Amino acid sequence: MNTAARPSLPAHIDVFSPAVYADETRLHADLAHLRRHQPISWVDREPYRPFWLITRNEDVKLIGKNADIFINAPRLTLIPSAIEEATLARNGSRTGASRTLLDMDAPEHAQYREIAARWFIGSGLRKLTAHIETIAENFVQRMVTADGKCDFASDIAVWYPLEIIASLLGAPLEDAPFILRMTQALLASGDPELQQAGDYGASAFMEFSGYLGKMLAERQARPTDDLTSAIANATIGGQPIGMVEALSYVLLVITAGHDTTSGALAGGMLGFATHPGELAKLQADPGLMRNASNEICRWVSPVRHFLRTATEDFTLRDITIRAGESALMIYPSANRDEAVFDDPDVFRVDRNTSGHVAFGYGAHACIGRQLALLEMDALFSRLAPRLQSLELDGPPVPIASNFVGGYRKLPIRYTLR
Ligand code: HEM
Repeated sequence: MNTAARPSLPAHIDVFSPAVYADETRLHADLAHLRRHQPISWVDREPYRPFWLITRNEDVKLIGKNADIFINAPRLTLIPSAIEEATLARNGSRTGASRTLLDMDAPEHAQYREIAARWFIGSGLRKLTAHIETIAENFVQRMVTADGKCDFASDIAVWYPLEIIASLLGAPLEDAPFILRMTQALLASGDPELQQAGDYGASAFMEFSGYLGKMLAERQARPTDDLTSAIANATIGGQPIGMVEALSYVLLVITAGHDTTSGALAGGMLGFATHPGELAKLQADPGLMRNASNEICRWVSPVRHFLRTATEDFTLRDITIRAGESALMIYPSANRDEAVFDDPDVFRVDRNTSGHVAFGYGAHACIGRQLALLEMDALFSRLAPRLQSLELDGPPVPIASNFVGGYRKLPIRYTLR
C-alpha cells in the first residue's frame, strides 16, 4: 500500500453508530475483523464528518502518546455534522460552550489538570477510602434487603458511584436523580430511551449549567472543603479561573465521575453472572480484586471512543493521516486486541491486564482511574465472598451509546450468605 492509500470502511460494517452498541456480539465480531484485515479505515458516512477509524491497541496508544501532534480541541467525540453546525452557529465553536480538560491541549491542559489531579491520587484518595467503603457497605445492604432479586444496573450501579462523586463535589444527595438525568442526556446522547430531547444534550447542558453555576457561585462566596470549592477558587497563572472553565470542570468531573464507573460495575456483574468460574476464583483468592477490577474495565470498556485531530501529516503503519483529519480511537477494540490479550473476548479475572486502554492513554489519561478502581474494589470485594449464587434474571439491556456505555437493565437473582 502506498502512503496515499485511503482504505474505506467496507459498506456493510458499522462500528461507530450508537445503535450498533446495543448488539455487542456483532460489534466485537466486526471490530475483530477490522483489526485483522483493515486496522485503519477511512470513514466518510452520514451523519458524521469524515474520520479515520483506529482499531488496534498499539495505534491507539501511539496517537494518545503523540498529544503534540494529535490534539483534542477541534473535535472530541462523534457528533452528527448538522448538530455540530448548529452548535457552531450558536456558540462560535463546534464543540459547544464548554471548555473542559478534555477540550484543552498543551500547555494550558496541564495547568488545569493540576487543580483536581491531587484529589484522585495518593493522600487525596486515601482520605476518601473510608467514606467509599461505608457507601459500598450501604449498597451491599440494599442488595440484602432487596431479597435476592434486583436490577443491578438501575438499582445499584448507577447510584453508588453517583453518591460518591456528589459527596466529593458537595452536591446534595437528594439531587442525585436530577444529576443522573442530566448526565445520561449528555453522555448517552444516542440512546433514545435516555435522551428524549433529540438535541445531543444541548438542552440538558443549559439546565445543568444553571445548577452547577449556582453551586460554584455559592462556593466562591463561602468555600468549604469540597472539590467544587477547590475549582471555584483555583487560579491559573495567578489569575482566578474563568467561569466557563470552572463550570466545564465541575460538569466534566460530575458526569465522567459516575456514568463510566456505573457502566463498569454493571458490566462486571454481568461478567460474574455469565462466568461463574471467575467469581469462584475471586472468592478463593481475594487478592485478585484489583486485577479483577482492571479486567472488568478492559472487558467492558465503558468509554467507547475519543477523537483526536492531526496538526501535521502523520504516517501510521503505511497510511498518512493528513493535517486537519481526525482519528477515532475505539477503546473496546483496542482492549480486545489479540496482539495484546490472549482470548480477548473471554472475561478472566486472573489474566494479565496490563496494556488495556479503558482509561485512555497519554496526556489526557483518566484523572479518576484510581478512584474508579477503588470504588469497584470496595463493592465487589464485599459482595463476592457473600454471593452464594448469582444468575441473570432476564436479558441485559445495553445502552445504545457510541460514547459512554453500560447497561440500562441488568436483572439478577442471587443468594447472599
Ligand atoms: C471505570 C470508570 C472510568 C473510565 C472507564 C474512564 C475512562 C476515561 C477515558 C477513556 C478518558 C479519556 C482519556 C484520553 O483521552 O486519553 C477519561 C478522562 C477523564 N476522566 Fe475518566 N474514566 C472513569 C472514571 C472516572 C472517574 C471516577 C472520574 C472522576 C473524577 C473521571 C474523570 C475523568 C476526567 C476529569 C478526565 C479528563 C482528563 C484529561 O483530559 O486530562 N473518570 N476517562
